[in-house]
Amino acid sequence: MDYKKELVEYAKLCEIKGLVNALEGNVSILDREKNLLYITPTGTRKATLEEEDVAVLEFDSEKQLSGKKASSEYRLHKAAYLARKDCNAVIHSHCEALTSFAIRGEDVVCDAMALFRIVKGRAKCLPYGQPGTVEIAKGIEEAISDSPICLLGNHGVICIAPTLDKCEAWLEGLEGATKTMLLAKQSGELKPIPGFWEQF
Ligand code: 13P
Repeated sequence: MDYKKELVEYAKLCEIKGLVNALEGNVSILDREKNLLYITPTGTRKATLEEEDVAVLEFDSEKQLSGKKASSEYRLHKAAYLARKDCNAVIHSHCEALTSFAIRGEDVVCDAMALFRIVKGRAKCLPYGQPGTVEIAKGIEEAISDSPICLLGNHGVICIAPTLDKCEAWLEGLEGATKTMLLAKQSGELKPIPGFWEQF
């Protein structure tokens, strides 16, 4: 498995899809067998990322082994991987629609669109924590125990999945659905899907 290649490919896709940019968001893959974390470098445009730029850290010790200086949010990624042993990819994003809930400190709740099944109808919002510290991940174990996505209060969102392909797809899908939900709310009440909550 070429983790650097995969990370570069998906980091670029994330920038194309508006999920990350030069100053916001970061993407990682965990190789659990080798105890290695591959993560985008700090303050870097993902669209022009090269494989040699990818920061490689020893997961347990957090020691950087190669690449440019790791994302300042590597502790957030680590907390998510520790909480979800079944997952090997994380995207942290400040994407607009989901983040608009985070800056109100509000969970995203929706029973009117099938796509929200990914989060069982609710993406929880964690309280504010100082970016770049472990504080940002306080409560993450519970929030992502049965959901791939949670909001980070006054900050953004994190998505965790078994693969980076799924992680990008879920985050892109949820961001798009949240935009549609906000648009629909401007013109009236949302109509719930019958039996939505009974399926979980
Ligand atoms: P980095 O540029 O260090 O990855 O941080 C961006 C960010 O999203 C901070 O929350």
